[in-house]
Amino acid sequence: MSDIIRQLELKRDAARQGGGQRRIDNQHAKGKLTARERIDVFLDAGSFEEWGMFVEHTINDFGMADQKIPGDGVITGHGRVNGRLVFVFSQDFTVFGGSLSTAHAGKICRIMDQAMKVGAPVIGLNDSGGARIQEGVASLGGYADVFQRNVLASGVVPQISVIMGPCAGGAVYSPAMTDFIFMVKDSSYMFVTGPDVVKTVTHEEVTQEDLGGAVTHTTKSGVADLAFENDVDALLQLRRFMDFLPSSNREDPPVLPSDDPHDRAEPSLDTLVPTNPNMPYDMKELIGKVVDEGDFFELQPEYAGNILIGLARIEGSTVGIVANQPMVLAGCLDIASSRKAARFVRFCDCFNIPIVTLVDVPGFLPGTAQEYGGIIKHGAKLLFAFAEATVPKVTLITRKAYGGAYDVMSSKHLRGDVNYAWPNAEIAVMGPKGAVEIIFREDIGDEEAIAQRTEEYRQKFANPFVAGALGYIDDVIMPRNTRRRISGALRMLRDKQLENPWKKHDNIPL
Ligand code: HXC
Repeated sequence: MSDIIRQLELKRDAARQGGGQRRIDNQHAKGKLTARERIDVFLDAGSFEEWGMFVEHTINDFGMADQKIPGDGVITGHGRVNGRLVFVFSQDFTVFGGSLSTAHAGKICRIMDQAMKVGAPVIGLNDSGGARIQEGVASLGGYADVFQRNVLASGVVPQISVIMGPCAGGAVYSPAMTDFIFMVKDSSYMFVTGPDVVKTVTHEEVTQEDLGGAVTHTTKSGVADLAFENDVDALLQLRRFMDFLPSSNREDPPVLPSDDPHDRAEPSLDTLVPTNPNMPYDMKELIGKVVDEGDFFELQPEYAGNILIGLARIEGSTVGIVANQPMVLAGCLDIASSRKAARFVRFCDCFNIPIVTLVDVPGFLPGTAQEYGGIIKHGAKLLFAFAEATVPKVTLITRKAYGGAYDVMSSKHLRGDVNYAWPNAEIAVMGPKGAVEIIFREDIGDEEAIAQRTEEYRQKFANPFVAGALGYIDDVIMPRNTRRRISGALRMLRDKQLENPWKKHDNIPL
């Protein structure tokens, strides 16, 4: 017995040592934590139960039969984040570069299967050189096994990827199918093909960082949601993020008690929107003043800034916020903003998170770049996402709601449950000047006539009452009362039930 226990301890020690002190020191020298240290930062102290610590690869080629490290380069198991169950895998770069063998993949699949059965999120801490080269094609099967589970788990349990080192080749597609991707600046990258291949094929010279670093993916490609300064920062913010999420699609998100009164008035909002309709203002100020304690967890803040997305709480319950941002491109919808918001709306809908939509949208961005890029299909994604969503939907038009973009932004017609407008809202087919230049084309050149017609049009349509008379707006509310009115609407909607017709799945315009 004591022999077995000694062996057990030896194996545990070997697993904890990973690839050995030299490689651990290398990892630290790069400013990275080890896979185990990351788990320690991420989970509640003492809550981690490790599974598969003794799993070893079965590769015999290239001298691998003699090189076996218990755990095979990935630490898997479950633990708690602020008391709530999560499953986690953390790739250990010190063991064969965190590369994925079939044994390694099997460990990831095991926790994914269990997470789906019990209804708990899966968090992947990625730091891997890709497929285990010594194993050859079998490791590709391992990847595909993970991919298949990513798809089956999508919409069942939240899946979050943190990229904390290399992630290249087909390996990027597992994170790509998860709900959110967080990256660490200067130490992580994601690309389908690395700089060397890029140079051979396209003759472009590009660094790893420029091709697929955290800044690239949070500003240019929109592949990642957030970039953090270092491992600890990423993991602590991930803990905060988890508090907004339900454990699965069978549950509501947790309710965090708040001291922020639901009927808190904000007189400063009465003057948030400038009197000049062409002047911008910061929609983030409205969000900050409406949600509990001003706590808004914004996602993709550096990408497609003309739309804001993120999670917050109202009366302690999680809400998803989607808001046009007049400070960027006047809040127009374009390809990037439509895709950004559409995926977020669908996330909220999967996971029972009510959606609060704040609208100030002059329309879709015109131009060949947008048309050639397929704005028709991309804009339709957001339209589709809002239309199919069955979660509570509360919409507030703060100023402009023009044209197709009015319809798209969670309008009454797309089953918006409660649709409010501020008194100076303008809800119309298009802005007064553009409208007049089309319907009174003969007056172009006569500035006085155009100005008069524009004013007439403004009087008639640039207000919330025409839409109100048609029942498209439930009420015109004073800006200062926005928090009280939105929280009241959400409370009324707490037990909302709505189902879409049965189908195998929909066919969103991808
Ligand atoms: C086995 C690997 C490995 C791999 C790294 N290592 N990648 N072992 N399979 N894929 C090992 C190294 O041999 C080394 O072992 C240790 O990990 C650290 O690697 P270094 O190269 O010393 O580290 P660094 O300089 O930081 O470079 C990291 C790296 C580089 C950029 C990731 O290792 C690299 O380019 N690796 C190969 C990447 C790759 O081509 N992977 C296959 C892609 S195809 P020692 O013993 O010296 O510590 C793929 C397909 C997936 O992934 C498809 C899914 C559908």
